[in-house]
Amino acid sequence: MRKRSDRRITGQNRMLSLLDALERDPRADAVIDVLTKRVRALPLGRARDALHGKPIGHPAHPLMVQVPIGSWMSAAVLDLWPGRSREAGFLVGVGLAAAGPAALAGAVDWAELHRQQTRVGLVHAVTNVTAVGLYGASLFCRLTGRAGAGRAYGFLGLTAAGVGGMLGGHLAYRQASGANHAEEVPHVVSEGWHRVGSVDEFPAGQAVRRTVDDVPVLVVREVGGTFHALAERCSHLAGPLSEGTVADGCVQCPWHGSVFRLSDGWNVRGPATAPQPAFDTRVVDGHVEISLRGPDAAPAGPEGDEVAARVDESRLHGHGA
Ligand code: FES
Repeated sequence: MRKRSDRRITGQNRMLSLLDALERDPRADAVIDVLTKRVRALPLGRARDALHGKPIGHPAHPLMVQVPIGSWMSAAVLDLWPGRSREAGFLVGVGLAAAGPAALAGAVDWAELHRQQTRVGLVHAVTNVTAVGLYGASLFCRLTGRAGAGRAYGFLGLTAAGVGGMLGGHLAYRQASGANHAEEVPHVVSEGWHRVGSVDEFPAGQAVRRTVDDVPVLVVREVGGTFHALAERCSHLAGPLSEGTVADGCVQCPWHGSVFRLSDGWNVRGPATAPQPAFDTRVVDGHVEISLRGPDAAPAGPEGDEVAARVDESRLHGHGA
Protein backbone atom coordinates (compact mmCIF):
# COMPACT_ATOMS: atom_id res chain seq x y z
CA MET A 1 0.00 0.00 0.00
CA ARG A 2 1.29 3.45 -0.89
CA LYS A 3 2.09 5.77 1.97
CA ARG A 4 0.02 8.93 2.36
CA SER A 5 3.10 11.13 1.75
CA ASP A 6 3.72 9.32 -1.60
CA ARG A 7 0.15 9.97 -2.66
CA ARG A 8 0.52 13.65 -1.74
CA ILE A 9 3.69 13.99 -3.84
CA THR A 10 1.97 12.29 -6.79
CA GLY A 11 -0.91 14.76 -6.48
CA GLN A 12 1.50 17.70 -6.47
CA ASN A 13 3.29 16.33 -9.55
CA ARG A 14 -0.03 15.96 -11.34
CA MET A 15 -0.90 19.59 -10.63
CA LEU A 16 2.47 20.78 -11.94
CA SER A 17 2.19 18.58 -15.05
CA LEU A 18 -1.23 20.07 -15.69
CA LEU A 19 0.12 23.61 -15.47
CA ASP A 20 3.13 22.79 -17.65
CA ALA A 21 0.83 21.13 -20.21
CA LEU A 22 -1.28 24.28 -20.26
CA GLU A 23 1.80 26.30 -21.28
CA ARG A 24 2.37 23.97 -24.25
CA ASP A 25 -1.25 23.66 -25.41
CA PRO A 26 -1.69 25.65 -28.66
CA ARG A 27 -5.46 25.22 -29.04
CA ALA A 28 -6.35 28.74 -27.93
CA ASP A 29 -3.57 30.47 -29.88
CA ALA A 30 -5.89 31.90 -32.54
CA VAL A 31 -8.10 33.44 -29.85
CA ILE A 32 -5.02 34.77 -28.04
CA ASP A 33 -3.78 36.43 -31.24
CA VAL A 34 -7.08 38.25 -31.76
CA LEU A 35 -7.36 39.32 -28.12
CA THR A 36 -3.76 40.53 -27.76
CA LYS A 37 -4.16 42.61 -30.92
CA ARG A 38 -7.32 44.19 -29.54
CA VAL A 39 -5.76 44.95 -26.16
CA ARG A 40 -2.73 46.53 -27.84
CA ALA A 41 -5.06 48.66 -29.98
CA LEU A 42 -6.95 50.10 -26.98
CA PRO A 43 -6.48 53.92 -27.05
CA LEU A 44 -4.94 54.17 -23.59
CA GLY A 45 -2.15 56.65 -24.37
CA ARG A 46 0.27 57.23 -21.51
CA ALA A 47 -2.17 55.53 -19.11
CA ARG A 48 -0.92 52.26 -20.57
CA ASP A 49 2.44 52.74 -18.82
CA ALA A 50 0.65 53.50 -15.54
CA LEU A 51 -1.39 50.29 -15.93
CA HIS A 52 1.82 48.36 -16.54
CA GLY A 53 3.09 49.75 -13.22
CA LYS A 54 5.91 51.95 -14.54
CA PRO A 55 5.37 54.63 -11.81
CA ILE A 56 5.89 52.05 -9.06
CA GLY A 57 8.68 50.09 -10.77
CA HIS A 58 6.88 46.76 -10.97
CA PRO A 59 3.57 45.45 -12.36
CA ALA A 60 0.50 47.18 -10.91
CA HIS A 61 -1.88 44.27 -11.52
CA PRO A 62 -0.84 42.15 -8.47
CA LEU A 63 -1.32 45.24 -6.28
CA MET A 64 -4.70 46.12 -7.78
CA VAL A 65 -6.17 42.64 -7.30
CA GLN A 66 -5.72 43.01 -3.55
CA VAL A 67 -8.97 45.03 -3.37
CA PRO A 68 -11.35 42.51 -4.99
CA ILE A 69 -9.64 39.49 -3.39
CA GLY A 70 -9.58 41.14 0.03
CA SER A 71 -13.19 42.31 -0.24
CA TRP A 72 -14.45 38.92 -1.37
CA MET A 73 -12.46 37.06 1.25
CA SER A 74 -13.88 39.35 3.94
CA ALA A 75 -17.38 38.87 2.53
CA ALA A 76 -16.94 35.10 2.84
CA VAL A 77 -15.97 35.49 6.51
CA LEU A 78 -19.01 37.72 7.15
CA ASP A 79 -21.24 35.22 5.34
CA LEU A 80 -20.21 32.65 7.93
CA TRP A 81 -21.14 35.09 10.68
CA PRO A 82 -24.89 35.16 11.40
CA GLY A 83 -26.56 38.53 10.82
CA ARG A 84 -23.80 40.05 8.66
CA SER A 85 -25.32 39.40 5.26
CA ARG A 86 -25.83 43.10 4.49
CA GLU A 87 -22.16 43.95 5.16
CA ALA A 88 -21.07 40.93 3.13
CA GLY A 89 -23.17 42.14 0.20
CA PHE A 90 -21.54 45.56 0.41
CA LEU A 91 -18.07 43.99 0.22
CA VAL A 92 -19.11 41.85 -2.75
CA GLY A 93 -20.06 45.11 -4.51
CA VAL A 94 -16.73 46.76 -3.58
CA GLY A 95 -14.88 43.76 -5.04
CA LEU A 96 -16.87 43.93 -8.25
CA ALA A 97 -16.19 47.66 -8.65
CA ALA A 98 -12.43 47.12 -8.16
CA ALA A 99 -12.22 44.10 -10.46
CA GLY A 100 -12.56 46.14 -13.68
CA PRO A 101 -9.44 48.34 -13.31
CA ALA A 102 -7.43 45.36 -12.01
CA ALA A 103 -8.48 43.31 -15.03
CA LEU A 104 -7.51 46.12 -17.41
CA ALA A 105 -4.03 46.32 -15.84
CA GLY A 106 -3.68 42.55 -16.15
CA ALA A 107 -4.83 42.62 -19.77
CA VAL A 108 -2.25 45.20 -20.91
CA ASP A 109 0.51 43.18 -19.21
CA TRP A 110 -0.81 39.94 -20.74
CA ALA A 111 -0.84 41.35 -24.27
CA GLU A 112 2.96 41.81 -24.11
CA LEU A 113 3.98 38.33 -22.99
CA HIS A 114 5.55 35.28 -24.60
CA ARG A 115 3.25 32.73 -26.20
CA GLN A 116 3.49 30.20 -23.34
CA GLN A 117 2.72 32.90 -20.81
CA THR A 118 -0.31 34.14 -22.75
CA ARG A 119 -1.74 30.60 -22.76
CA VAL A 120 -1.66 30.39 -18.97
CA GLY A 121 -2.75 34.03 -18.77
CA LEU A 122 -5.84 33.35 -20.85
CA VAL A 123 -7.02 30.62 -18.48
CA HIS A 124 -6.16 32.90 -15.54
CA ALA A 125 -8.41 35.56 -17.11
CA VAL A 126 -11.22 33.09 -17.81
CA THR A 127 -11.28 31.88 -14.20
CA ASN A 128 -11.30 35.45 -12.94
CA VAL A 129 -14.08 36.46 -15.32
CA THR A 130 -15.98 33.42 -14.01
CA ALA A 131 -15.39 34.70 -10.47
CA VAL A 132 -16.74 38.11 -11.44
CA GLY A 133 -19.82 36.49 -13.01
CA LEU A 134 -20.46 34.45 -9.90
CA TYR A 135 -20.05 37.46 -7.63
CA GLY A 136 -22.35 39.43 -9.95
CA ALA A 137 -24.97 36.69 -9.47
CA SER A 138 -24.26 36.76 -5.74
CA LEU A 139 -24.92 40.48 -5.54
CA PHE A 140 -28.08 40.19 -7.64
CA CYS A 141 -29.44 37.46 -5.36
CA ARG A 142 -28.65 39.47 -2.26
CA LEU A 143 -30.36 42.55 -3.68
CA THR A 144 -33.47 40.55 -4.58
CA GLY A 145 -33.87 38.98 -1.17
CA ARG A 146 -32.29 35.57 -1.80
CA ALA A 147 -29.48 35.77 0.72
CA GLY A 148 -28.86 32.00 0.78
CA ALA A 149 -28.29 31.83 -2.97
CA GLY A 150 -26.16 35.00 -2.71
CA ARG A 151 -23.92 33.31 -0.18
CA ALA A 152 -23.65 30.15 -2.32
CA TYR A 153 -22.67 32.14 -5.43
CA GLY A 154 -20.18 34.04 -3.29
CA PHE A 155 -18.40 30.89 -2.14
CA LEU A 156 -18.32 29.58 -5.72
CA GLY A 157 -16.87 32.92 -6.83
CA LEU A 158 -14.17 32.74 -4.16
CA THR A 159 -13.24 29.26 -5.38
CA ALA A 160 -12.90 30.52 -8.98
CA ALA A 161 -10.85 33.52 -7.79
CA GLY A 162 -8.61 31.13 -5.86
CA VAL A 163 -7.91 29.06 -8.99
CA GLY A 164 -7.24 32.31 -10.89
CA GLY A 165 -4.81 33.39 -8.16
CA MET A 166 -2.96 30.08 -8.34
CA LEU A 167 -2.56 30.49 -12.11
CA GLY A 168 -1.39 34.07 -11.56
CA GLY A 169 1.27 32.75 -9.20
CA HIS A 170 2.41 30.25 -11.84
CA LEU A 171 2.65 33.09 -14.37
CA ALA A 172 4.61 35.34 -12.04
CA TYR A 173 6.98 32.90 -10.39
CA ARG A 174 7.42 29.90 -12.66
CA GLN A 175 7.10 31.77 -15.96
CA ALA A 176 8.63 35.03 -14.65
CA SER A 177 6.15 37.34 -16.31
CA GLY A 178 6.39 40.73 -14.66
CA ALA A 179 9.81 40.01 -13.14
CA ASN A 180 12.78 42.30 -13.80
CA HIS A 181 14.86 40.30 -16.29
CA ALA A 182 17.93 42.50 -15.79
CA GLU A 183 18.02 42.28 -12.01
CA GLU A 184 20.86 39.77 -11.81
CA VAL A 185 23.30 41.85 -13.89
CA PRO A 186 24.87 43.78 -10.97
CA HIS A 187 25.41 40.48 -9.16
CA VAL A 188 27.14 38.80 -12.10
CA VAL A 189 29.37 41.48 -13.63
CA SER A 190 32.61 41.91 -11.70
CA GLU A 191 33.73 45.31 -10.44
CA GLY A 192 36.23 47.42 -12.38
CA TRP A 193 36.85 48.32 -15.99
CA HIS A 194 36.31 45.85 -18.81
CA ARG A 195 37.72 46.39 -22.30
CA VAL A 196 35.05 45.79 -24.98
CA GLY A 197 36.84 46.68 -28.21
CA SER A 198 38.69 49.36 -30.12
CA VAL A 199 36.92 52.64 -30.90
CA ASP A 200 36.73 51.73 -34.63
CA GLU A 201 34.52 48.73 -33.86
CA PHE A 202 31.64 51.01 -32.84
CA PRO A 203 30.08 52.88 -35.79
CA ALA A 204 28.32 56.07 -34.63
CA GLY A 205 24.62 55.66 -33.85
CA GLN A 206 24.65 51.86 -34.09
CA ALA A 207 23.92 49.33 -31.39
CA VAL A 208 26.78 46.89 -30.86
CA ARG A 209 26.59 43.79 -28.68
CA ARG A 210 29.52 42.78 -26.48
CA THR A 211 29.90 40.38 -23.57
CA VAL A 212 31.32 41.06 -20.12
CA ASP A 213 31.58 38.17 -17.63
CA ASP A 214 29.16 36.24 -19.87
CA VAL A 215 26.62 39.08 -19.58
CA PRO A 216 25.53 40.62 -22.91
CA VAL A 217 26.11 44.37 -23.04
CA LEU A 218 24.81 46.98 -25.48
CA VAL A 219 27.40 49.60 -26.50
CA VAL A 220 26.40 52.70 -28.49
CA ARG A 221 28.70 55.44 -29.74
CA GLU A 222 26.86 58.71 -30.24
CA VAL A 223 27.58 60.89 -33.27
CA GLY A 224 29.51 63.31 -31.02
CA GLY A 225 31.78 60.48 -29.84
CA THR A 226 30.22 59.80 -26.42
CA PHE A 227 29.90 56.09 -25.55
CA HIS A 228 27.00 54.53 -23.66
CA ALA A 229 26.67 50.98 -22.37
CA LEU A 230 23.65 49.17 -20.90
CA ALA A 231 22.80 45.60 -20.04
CA GLU A 232 21.70 44.18 -23.37
CA ARG A 233 18.83 41.92 -22.29
CA CYS A 234 15.65 43.96 -21.82
CA SER A 235 14.35 44.14 -18.26
CA HIS A 236 10.83 43.34 -19.53
CA LEU A 237 11.32 39.85 -20.99
CA ALA A 238 15.01 39.74 -21.94
CA GLY A 239 14.57 40.98 -25.52
CA PRO A 240 17.82 41.75 -27.42
CA LEU A 241 18.31 45.52 -27.24
CA SER A 242 21.25 45.31 -29.67
CA GLU A 243 18.64 44.48 -32.35
CA GLY A 244 16.52 47.46 -31.37
CA THR A 245 16.30 51.01 -32.70
CA VAL A 246 18.66 53.74 -31.50
CA ALA A 247 17.17 57.25 -31.69
CA ASP A 248 17.04 60.46 -29.64
CA GLY A 249 19.45 59.21 -27.00
CA CYS A 250 17.36 56.08 -26.40
CA VAL A 251 17.15 52.47 -27.54
CA GLN A 252 13.82 50.81 -28.27
CA CYS A 253 13.42 47.09 -27.63
CA PRO A 254 12.50 45.15 -30.80
CA TRP A 255 10.11 42.83 -28.97
CA HIS A 256 7.47 44.96 -27.25
CA GLY A 257 8.75 48.49 -27.75
CA SER A 258 10.07 49.45 -24.30
CA VAL A 259 12.30 52.54 -24.56
CA PHE A 260 15.44 52.97 -22.43
CA ARG A 261 17.59 56.10 -22.10
CA LEU A 262 21.14 55.30 -23.15
CA SER A 263 22.81 57.63 -20.64
CA ASP A 264 21.46 55.90 -17.52
CA GLY A 265 19.17 53.03 -18.58
CA TRP A 266 15.95 54.69 -17.39
CA ASN A 267 12.84 53.02 -18.80
CA VAL A 268 11.28 55.96 -20.56
CA ARG A 269 8.38 53.87 -21.82
CA GLY A 270 6.94 50.45 -20.95
CA PRO A 271 5.94 47.72 -20.88
CA ALA A 272 9.25 47.47 -19.01
CA THR A 273 8.74 48.67 -15.44
CA ALA A 274 12.43 48.50 -14.43
CA PRO A 275 15.42 50.38 -15.88
CA GLN A 276 18.42 48.74 -17.53
CA PRO A 277 21.64 48.46 -15.50
CA ALA A 278 24.01 51.10 -16.89
CA PHE A 279 27.81 51.23 -17.24
CA ASP A 280 30.30 54.09 -17.07
CA THR A 281 32.44 54.31 -20.19
CA ARG A 282 35.89 55.63 -21.05
CA VAL A 283 38.38 55.41 -23.90
CA VAL A 284 41.92 54.26 -23.05
CA ASP A 285 44.61 53.89 -25.73
CA GLY A 286 41.98 53.78 -28.48
CA HIS A 287 39.96 51.11 -26.68
CA VAL A 288 36.52 51.39 -25.10
CA GLU A 289 36.25 50.31 -21.48
CA ILE A 290 33.10 49.98 -19.40
CA SER A 291 32.44 49.62 -15.69
CA LEU A 292 29.10 48.78 -14.10
CA ARG A 293 27.75 51.74 -12.15
CA GLY A 294 28.03 51.04 -8.45
CA PRO A 295 25.28 51.29 -5.84
CA ASP A 296 26.40 54.84 -4.94
CA ALA A 297 25.82 56.18 -8.45
CA ALA A 298 22.83 58.51 -8.94
CA PRO A 299 19.83 56.32 -9.77
CA ALA A 300 18.20 56.50 -13.17
CA GLY A 301 15.14 58.74 -13.00
CA PRO A 302 12.16 59.93 -15.01
CA GLU A 303 13.65 63.26 -16.15
CA GLY A 304 13.22 63.57 -19.90
CA ASP A 305 10.45 60.97 -20.22
CA GLU A 306 8.87 63.13 -22.90
CA VAL A 307 11.52 61.94 -25.34
CA ALA A 308 9.37 58.82 -25.70
CA ALA A 309 6.92 60.77 -27.79
CA ARG A 310 9.59 61.22 -30.43
CA VAL A 311 10.59 57.59 -30.73
CA ASP A 312 9.26 55.73 -33.74
CA GLU A 313 5.84 54.23 -32.81
CA SER A 314 5.87 51.93 -35.82
CA ARG A 315 8.44 49.67 -34.15
CA LEU A 316 6.01 48.73 -31.41
CA HIS A 317 4.73 45.19 -31.01
CA GLY A 318 7.03 43.55 -33.52
CA HIS A 319 7.62 40.46 -31.33
CA GLY A 320 5.84 37.26 -32.15
CA ALA A 321 7.64 34.84 -29.83
S1 FES B 1 11.39 42.20 -24.06
FE1 FES B 1 9.48 43.16 -24.00
S2 FES B 1 9.92 45.24 -24.35
FE2 FES B 1 11.82 44.29 -24.35
